This record gives sequence, C-alpha cells and structure tokens, in this order.
Amino acid sequence: MKIIEAKNYEEMSRFASEKVQACIDENIQPNLGLATGSTPIGLYKHLISSNKKGDVSFRNVTTFNLDEYVKLSETDPNSYRYFMNEELFNHVDIDKNNTHVPNGKATDLDQECLDYENKIREAGGIDLQILGIGANGHIGFNEPGTSFQSRTQIVKLDEQTRVANSRFFDSMDDVPTHAITTGIGTIMDSKEIILLISGSAKKEAYERLINGEVSEEFPASVLQNHSNCIVIVDKESIS
Ligand code: GLP
Repeated sequence: MKIIEAKNYEEMSRFASEKVQACIDENIQPNLGLATGSTPIGLYKHLISSNKKGDVSFRNVTTFNLDEYVKLSETDPNSYRYFMNEELFNHVDIDKNNTHVPNGKATDLDQECLDYENKIREAGGIDLQILGIGANGHIGFNEPGTSFQSRTQIVKLDEQTRVANSRFFDSMDDVPTHAITTGIGTIMDSKEIILLISGSAKKEAYERLINGEVSEEFPASVLQNHSNCIVIVDKESIS
C-alpha cells in the first residue's frame, strides 16, 4: 500500500483524477470501479472539467459502482444511481448503457447480486477501483466483520453508518437498513485501487489503516494485502 499525502482536498482530487485519466489512456476499454459519498465529488469535478477541455474521453469507458441502497429507485435523489448521474455521468461523454449501479429495487435481490458480480467478471474485471472509507473502516458497504472472501451481496447497514449517512435524508427513519454491495473479494480483484481519505471524521480510520493489523473487524485493512493500492490522504482535513 502506497501512501500519498496531498496537502488539501483539492490536491487529493487532482492526484486521483490524474490516475483515472492515466488508466483511461492506458486501456482500450477501461473498466472503472466508482464510489459515492462526499469524498470523491472533487475527483468527479476534475474529470468533468478534463472531459470538457477534451483532455479525456469516456466514450470507451465502462463503470461499475460499488453499492446501492435497497428499496431506493434510481429517481430517488438519495439513490447512488441518482448521485452518479448528477455528479458525473450527466456531464461527460459516457454511454449511459455502459454505466452500472446495482439495482436496489430488483424483485429478486439475490439474483441481482449474482448478475452484478457476473457482469463485472464478463467485462474482464475492474482496471481501477476508486474507494472512500467509512469511519468504522467500511469499504463499499462492507461493514466490520465482513469476510475478506465476500462477493456482491445484500448487507445490513451498521447503525453508525446509517447515522453518518442520515445527513442526506429527511429523517433517520428514511435511511435504508440494507444495501447491495460488491464484496471485499470483488474489490480486491481490481487491478489497481485508489482509496481517498478526507475529513476529520476519518482521522482514526486513517491511523488504524496505516498502523493497525489486517483484520476483518476493520475492512479497509485488507488493502494492505493488495499489490497495487494507493491511499491518497487529504492532510489538511486529517491533521
Ligand atoms: C458510504 C458509501 C461508501 C463511502 C462512505 C463514506 O457509506 N457506501 O462507499 O466510502 O459512505 O462517505 P463519505 O465520503 O461521504 O464520508
């Protein structure tokens, strides 16, 4: 695991966008793994701006998002599909048919998980996976205790995660209790991983990630075992 210390949020986002653009340049049909949350918004802004300037094109890019809330439709402003459309897909030259987010409204959710995992495999796997981190060390929606071998599955969200994400909802009761997430095994199969860390709420998670032991009790620690993982940390907000 390589650590890059960015001086602030802007620099973290720029470094990440340079890595994404390099991946798009190096691959004929790049498969990007994308994340939601506040942390990658700056990265997406950079990519939109580079796309508008003609420095990068998404015409040949396929994307797979990490996760989606169960029961939220894609027109719900709190769904991750809606978030991705608003924050990236609507503003770049990507073919929307090549953008994938698990369907939290699928009638057969278990089948949706199997299909999603197969779709990633059939596409040839993820070339570059972008990750954020939860304060409890979750990646995607893989909460503490999740097996490192896990594949795409339905998960129950930790109360701490629901409280953290309640800032986007009208009330706690509206925050979904379950989500579909790609598994830790799925994430670890990515050829390259970039984990973005920003915000004082992530200080302890960052310290545990770099100094702590590899344990299923702290899901992000698995990244220490990945051969091509870069952590880009926004030092200004963490210190
Ligand atoms: C959610 C997402 C994660 C994300 C996390 C942190 O739980 N499922 O993929 O990393 O939020 O979000 P933020 O960047 O807003 O702190």
